[in-house]
Amino acid sequence: VWCFILRRQQIVIVGSGLSAYVLASKLWQSADIIIITKYSTEHSNSIRAQGGIAAAISAKDQWQLHGEDTLKAGVFHNHQVAVETLVKEGQQVVKSLLQQGFQADRNQQGELELGREGAHSQRRIIHAGGDQTGKYLINFYQELLQGKITIIEGQLAVDCVVDDGECKGIITIDQQNQIHTYTADHTVLATGGFGALYDTTSNDLSTTGDGIAIAYRAGAIVSDMEFVQFHPTMLATQAQHNDLISEAVRGEGAILVDQDKREIMKGIHPLENLAPRDIVSRVIMTEITKGNKVFLDINNVKKFPIKFPFINSVCEKNNIDWQQGVIPVKPGAHFTMGGVETDLLGRTNIPRLYAIGETACTHVHGANRLASNSLLEGMVFATRLADYLQTQSGLFFNKISDSQSVQITSQHPDINQLRKRMTNHAGINRNETGLKKMLEWLDKFTIIQENNLSSYTLSREQVQIQHHLLIAQLVTEAARKRTESRGAHYRVDFPYEREQWKNKNITFQLTKQGV
Ligand code: SIN
Repeated sequence: VWCFILRRQQIVIVGSGLSAYVLASKLWQSADIIIITKYSTEHSNSIRAQGGIAAAISAKDQWQLHGEDTLKAGVFHNHQVAVETLVKEGQQVVKSLLQQGFQADRNQQGELELGREGAHSQRRIIHAGGDQTGKYLINFYQELLQGKITIIEGQLAVDCVVDDGECKGIITIDQQNQIHTYTADHTVLATGGFGALYDTTSNDLSTTGDGIAIAYRAGAIVSDMEFVQFHPTMLATQAQHNDLISEAVRGEGAILVDQDKREIMKGIHPLENLAPRDIVSRVIMTEITKGNKVFLDINNVKKFPIKFPFINSVCEKNNIDWQQGVIPVKPGAHFTMGGVETDLLGRTNIPRLYAIGETACTHVHGANRLASNSLLEGMVFATRLADYLQTQSGLFFNKISDSQSVQITSQHPDINQLRKRMTNHAGINRNETGLKKMLEWLDKFTIIQENNLSSYTLSREQVQIQHHLLIAQLVTEAARKRTESRGAHYRVDFPYEREQWKNKNITFQLTKQGV
């Protein structure tokens, strides 16, 4: 049945991190907004973000310097215009957040306390609650949006509704395995990255690339999947996901040492403990592989429990007495630079389908994201998408065709097996043998590539594992194609940047039809 309806625009946002809330906060007055999230709004990477938001807002700073730092960290694999957009518009976005009443940390004179993190040439990190910036931001937007939008918790996105070459909504599955369809004028994927597909990670365990998987099946272009950033300092415990020990701690003077107090970053890089994350992570991995233990020596950090109350509580919870001066650390998956290819308005190659935040790949981060640029990215590109959607019409063909159910019989692995293999074969150090092994292992399973998961009789758990398997396949394929080392992507068998690819922004775009 076809019908033409003229009304307020219906916008469905999948995911409940910072970019979803910023978008909703700009559009709720002119559009009906539904946020769909697979567990609850308490699950996101944004809420866990410690460091803060990077922006060149101090009198001593300039957006050009922030841009240079972003490019250097990204090993110049970034798209220059995306970077310029981020750092220039970021200044305005952050100023308006503060004008809206967001309570960032300030000194006794009322000036912003700006933090420093790895690879930043200036102090430019705005933070809140010491090391709880993400939580403060999410609370701020939740209060702002109270009663103004619809939030649906507990539903996992399954497929995009694609009809006549346009995206017309989203299909989800709830915790009772019931399928739901939401039609929308505009469908926005904001499900974060896929760091939780690795077995040591700072990510919320829900962050498994669902938005990227469904976009790919719907025919969207996916890029730069090989670039996975490992953060050097997770608290070293056996937990399933690991608490982050913010880089800001090193920004305040902490140093990496081994069990004999040897400074492991000495002589490795001019920035030593604040060297780019890929370098620090590899040095720590090498130490751990040699059988050494690595610690963050915080003896030089003044007012540690006041500056880092969350980390302090995490140490207490894990029976680590930071007053001894050392915290055990190891690297873990933290941020994924690749994702659904979008323009600088968040548009994918499928009309009416958008991606923002970590789900998107605008190429702003290049081969390695600069610290605290991710909350900024979420805010800047959600704001740009909101401005764009306000210019769009709410006229929309409303049609959903019923699909047939097909039985699928296939074994599937459990997430922990997958995470282990991703860590071993597509992790910090990669090589042809390991990547090939990973693909051979993935080959044992049926990985549905078509935009019709909902037409199979799959349980929610099976849908979820389909997303996991597809993302693992895309990452491994991309990592195999990139026969060089660049930023966060390190190939032991190709340890240098490929000369012919230098400064050319060679990107592996993956689509269902092949590259
Ligand atoms: C950190 O606090 O170390 C992480 C900040 C970030 O990844 O942007």
